Amino acid sequence: MDKNLIYTFDKDNEMLLGGIKASELIKKYGSPLYTLNEQVIRNRCELFKNILKEVYPNSIISYASKAFCCKAIYEIMKNYDFACDVVSGGEIATVLKTKFDTSKVYFHGNNKTEKEINLALKNNIFNFIVDNEDELETLEEIISKNKKWENKINIIVRINPGVEAHTHEYVQTSKTDSKFGINLESGEAEKFILKIKENKKLNFLGLHFHIGSQIFDKEPFKLATHKTMLFIAKLKKNYNIDVNIINAGGGYGVWYNNSDADLTDNDYKDFIKVIADEISSCVKKNKLKEPTLVIEPGRTLVAEAGVTLYTVGNIKEIKGVRKYVSLDGGMFENPRVSLYQSVYTPIKAKKETNEIETVTLVGKCCESGDKIINNASLEKLKKGDIVAVLTTGAYHYSMASNYNRNPVPPVVLLNNKKARIIVKGQTYEDLLRYDL
Ligand SMILES: Cc1ncc(COP(=O)(O)O)c(C=O)c1O
Repeated sequence: MDKNLIYTFDKDNEMLLGGIKASELIKKYGSPLYTLNEQVIRNRCELFKNILKEVYPNSIISYASKAFCCKAIYEIMKNYDFACDVVSGGEIATVLKTKFDTSKVYFHGNNKTEKEINLALKNNIFNFIVDNEDELETLEEIISKNKKWENKINIIVRINPGVEAHTHEYVQTSKTDSKFGINLESGEAEKFILKIKENKKLNFLGLHFHIGSQIFDKEPFKLATHKTMLFIAKLKKNYNIDVNIINAGGGYGVWYNNSDADLTDNDYKDFIKVIADEISSCVKKNKLKEPTLVIEPGRTLVAEAGVTLYTVGNIKEIKGVRKYVSLDGGMFENPRVSLYQSVYTPIKAKKETNEIETVTLVGKCCESGDKIINNASLEKLKKGDIVAVLTTGAYHYSMASNYNRNPVPPVVLLNNKKARIIVKGQTYEDLLRYDL
């Protein structure tokens, strides 16, 4: 992505985000601060919409809420007619507040509680991406107790096609040894679908797979789609079962640092094309009904729109070993470094010197692993400087915690020199509200 869309420097060498000085944003909204560039999100939404229109028009884009969930983001997704997936009662409660069309909400997750299932049903969310046998039994029990839901529940089965994507182990979701989905290769998926089809009170709609996240290689998508389509052909041939939806998940990679590829619009198109081509060729070969393709991008739509601003605090140099620069954030607002060893790109928000140094940017939490960037190369920093960290729009705010009783920072949406708080920052009173 063109980095000029995300930040520029003005004539005084000050960083501008959405056309506003980073220093002004901090002054007005405090530090640390999550910022999101609305135009960058909209460009990505537009891009994916156009790609699907061209490559596979019979399709639905379902925003993966887990990447960043709040009311304002759903309002943007609604503008593009997107669907969304939710994985918890909290995400359901949030999406309902935005009057999102509930026929476009897909309920995901490997352990939906009865309370969450009932919340969904009561609010007309009927699309369930069913992950395992126990969940199916729970749904059948709910129907038998309450006839109101008979023939309303749409089932999409999450299968595990057994494809290993080359990404961090914790974000691979389709290895045979995974908590997600029903194994395709062992024959379990086939038995599972026959069981659903026996129950006339459930509507079997289709299949879902998600092979992992932050993937740059197209081959695993091709392979997972191929395996799924062979299975769809088998269901038709052996049991005359039609599959109306194939949901190929999300997971397309984004740029975090210079060792990541900076994918172009055409690269993203190629991901969708390999999936679409596999579907089309299998449909043709086996004379199948063309299924609707659903994709679930999360990170790709919001990650690069995000920049987190920090203020430099204490600096400690261990001669000949390392220089630590402490920032006022840390693992409570970005747990991805300690969770996945993610590597980010920092930029000093005011260009003052050409002196570059290598330092380790750390947070303020009581953990040695509370790092923001290990061995970062950037302009020499001093106390009070502002540091911007790029690509923080996905899985940051949504993964934040109150570790060490740090309040979660606010989120500010920027667009064309205008800033709008879309999530208020927490106060100490907020943190104390639940203590008795
Ligand atoms: C089922 C499912 N769909 C979609 C996504 C979104 O993935 P990404 O944000 O990498 O596009 C995830 C991420 O974990 C997921 O688990």
